[in-house]
Amino acid sequence: MTTKAHIIVLGNVKGGSGKSTTAMHVAIGLIRLGYRVGTIDLDARQGSLTRYMANRFEYVARHKLALPSPIHFPIEQAKAATTDEQNQIDRNFLLMAFAELENAPGKVDFIVIDTPGAETFLGQLAHYYADTLITPMNDSFVDLDVLARIDPTSFEIIAPSIYTRMVSEQRESRYAQTGETIDWIVMRNRLSSLDARNKRDIGELLEKVAQKFDFRLSAGFGERVVFRELFLKGMTLLDIKEDPDHKMTISAISARQEVRDLLRCIGPETIKGYPQKMTSYQDRHQA
Ligand SMILES: Nc1ncnc2c1ncn2[C@@H]1O[C@H](COP(=O)(O)OP(=O)(O)O)[C@@H](O)[C@H]1O
Ligand SMILES: [Mg+2]
Repeated sequence: MTTKAHIIVLGNVKGGSGKSTTAMHVAIGLIRLGYRVGTIDLDARQGSLTRYMANRFEYVARHKLALPSPIHFPIEQAKAATTDEQNQIDRNFLLMAFAELENAPGKVDFIVIDTPGAETFLGQLAHYYADTLITPMNDSFVDLDVLARIDPTSFEIIAPSIYTRMVSEQRESRYAQTGETIDWIVMRNRLSSLDARNKRDIGELLEKVAQKFDFRLSAGFGERVVFRELFLKGMTLLDIKEDPDHKMTISAISARQEVRDLLRCIGPETIKGYPQKMTSYQDRHQA
């Protein structure tokens, strides 16, 4: 099965790395660029993206705002007698959500999927269907082990992490079955303005890891307190101008620029003039 919509998956085995926050910002960012967007929350138990969306609907209704929102589906992991059965039900639900989003009257151009931190069948399946996979990671040496095991003294890459191996497997089977590729973007999150040395060291190491395991690096998001307040209101940095009690601070303006940089990194369709080719999306839309 291939979808016509471009699928963007947020994935990382670690919770708290910024998947749900980034999913919301990417979804609203794409809508603001004129695309129709659907969102799927596969981490329905935690439900951060679903709650983010609910906060938005409430805030928009309370303040009578005309803010755009995606069509949103939360999918909870099935309960069944056997794992096989459970996986089958999970698969059916995900494919149903794809079909629903693609066949709806205002069928979508992009589907943004938030995944749980732990490894579940649904999470892995979403990785298989990703055209773009975005992995946010906190900016520390500890968090690098999400991607690879690194020798602490020589800084040599010893082995891929379990997550990186899972991504490789999904990439291989996707390519074998459909001839399509998964564009993997790793994004550093919560970058501190202090500790420039640490930031540079991790950056250099990440470049090596990126080459070895074939992902691209995006510039990333700084550490910003504004994200918490935005979550509670269901707002994003891209709505700030229309938010009745907004504070247009320097920090918010820089943060908004970082979100736009990520959208630009995803591909040329999202912001005009970006030189990089995004094959799967283009191919599908030429057909
Ligand atoms: N760049 C950032 N600066 C400050 N706080 C952030 C940033 N990114 C995420 N957070 C906060 O960190 C927490 C976890 O983020 P979340 O997006 O829910 O992560 P995940 O979905 O990976 O578990 C949330 O409270 C969120 O507001
Ligand atoms: Mg989350």
